[in-house]
Amino acid sequence: MAVMDVFLDRLDPDMCVVTAAAGGERAGCLVGFSSQCSIRPVRYVVWISDVNRTFRVARLADVLAVHLLARDRRGTAELFGGRSGDDVDKFRRVRWREAYGGAAVLEDAEAWFVGRVLERIAGGDHVGFVLEPVEWGGHGKTGGPLLRLADARTIAPGHPVD
Ligand SMILES: Cc1cc2nc3c(=O)[nH]c(=O)nc-3n(C[C@H](O)[C@H](O)[C@H](O)COP(=O)(O)O)c2cc1C
Repeated sequence: MAVMDVFLDRLDPDMCVVTAAAGGERAGCLVGFSSQCSIRPVRYVVWISDVNRTFRVARLADVLAVHLLARDRRGTAELFGGRSGDDVDKFRRVRWREAYGGAAVLEDAEAWFVGRVLERIAGGDHVGFVLEPVEWGGHGKTGGPLLRLADARTIAPGHPVD
């Protein structure tokens, strides 16, 4: 059994898609490592692998957009998690609009927010982007079940892990 699998295999976080826009470029990837990290003020952290194209754009971005997906949005998860922006323009294949600070907001998200990047934290092979929410929207509690790790586990990451 690999290190910590006895613990890590029990986790089933909600998945999100994080998008970044900077310098005329857009990027986005599926993210399982994310959580609220402060109550007052509200802060949220998303962890982006330093090998992903999304990281290369996000490190230059002032804001990121974070989206929760409905469980039946498996196709969107496959696009953002199973393909790399190095090979395909993901934004030609989804409906999106520009929001606060030039952020790219996906139209079919269950819930989303745009966050200003306050800090970047070294976490190992992922970098934590601590976000201050500045704009948000979605279906609230009336929405259906969300896409979780258990629904996305079979997607092979689009960008090689190392
Ligand atoms: C189930 C699953 C969870 C993932 N979690 C993360 C994550 O937390 N952070 C991250 O940077 N990439 C994560 N990835 C990997 C990226 O979504 C994937 O490599 C993507 O294709 C990168 O696209 P990009 O090169 O356009 O940025 C995950 C992928 C899958 C399938």
